[in-house]
Amino acid sequence: ARPIGVAVLGMGNVGAEVVRILAENADDLRARVGAPVELRGVAVRDLTRPRKISQELLTDDAAALVARADVDIVVELMGGIDPARELIRAALESGKSVVTANKALLAEYTGELATAAAEAKVDLYFEAAVAGAIPVVRPLMQSLAGDTVERVAGIVNGTTNFILSAMDETGAAYADTLAEAGRLGYAEADPTADVEGYDAAAKAAILASIAFHTRVTAADVFREGISTVTAADLVAAKKFDCTVKLLSICERVHDADGRQRVSARVYPALIPLSHPLATVNGAFNAVVVEADNAGRLMFYGQGAGGSPTASAVLGDMVMAARNKVHGGRGPLESTYASLPIAPIDDV
Ligand code: HSE
Repeated sequence: ARPIGVAVLGMGNVGAEVVRILAENADDLRARVGAPVELRGVAVRDLTRPRKISQELLTDDAAALVARADVDIVVELMGGIDPARELIRAALESGKSVVTANKALLAEYTGELATAAAEAKVDLYFEAAVAGAIPVVRPLMQSLAGDTVERVAGIVNGTTNFILSAMDETGAAYADTLAEAGRLGYAEADPTADVEGYDAAAKAAILASIAFHTRVTAADVFREGISTVTAADLVAAKKFDCTVKLLSICERVHDADGRQRVSARVYPALIPLSHPLATVNGAFNAVVVEADNAGRLMFYGQGAGGSPTASAVLGDMVMAARNKVHGGRGPLESTYASLPIAPIDDV
């Protein structure tokens, strides 16, 4: 089969790992896809920065890279709304499949992008946008597509969990552990997104949208971050056999009159040490899903960092490449219920 061309937009922690794994696993990927998967280019902002990649593959013209006729799949890892939104739209509209890890963008524009993908009959995959390496998007969209999900709750921000765990274990100061999370490649470019809960709220919006087949945006999510949590709070929590975790909770709310609403909220919560989420430490994430027929499922693993997140990106890339080679698409993002958002005081 003809080779599948891949364009990568952005070469930060995740982009650099995607490029590395793509080269290292080229033979395996070719076998799994049924055709060679070839990197056509990587778009970066700063061409002068030294990078572990041949200079010919680098460009600062992302739009031109996306438009190349020999690019079949666009992997967007630049983050932020603009220009990512326009580049993804351009890719989809010209029949290219898109893999993205862009939580902030998806929390706002999944509807627009999913419609563009459906119209062009191409794939839009975003497993890496929520909880790094942990498969949670695909289980919700595919494995549980025949069930009714009632609740998705967990720890979906690695940086804040790393900070809270370090403060709890060693009494380390908030600012020191935040700096360490940045060095380890967990934190966002602007760590305010992590510590004030914006990143977790974006992920909650994505999870609620796919779990309940409705449209929830980041603005619909109640949000409180961890910047006011102190080491003393964690000491006090321990006295009650509890700890503090930044939880993201998405629920289908059944009103007394039989109507349904959705509640999505992010806040630092006091949880008993015996709770399974209390044992999730460092940059690990965990997501608990409750569905009518499946019952309770728990997903656990590395939620942040270059190679874990790149693993999820590569998985999506293989799926998209297989579909290009063998035909087929999916899973489809489906929105059939328009559930109102329950005010925070009601839940
Ligand atoms: N900054 C994010 C986190 C990266 O800490 O979870 C993974 O989405």
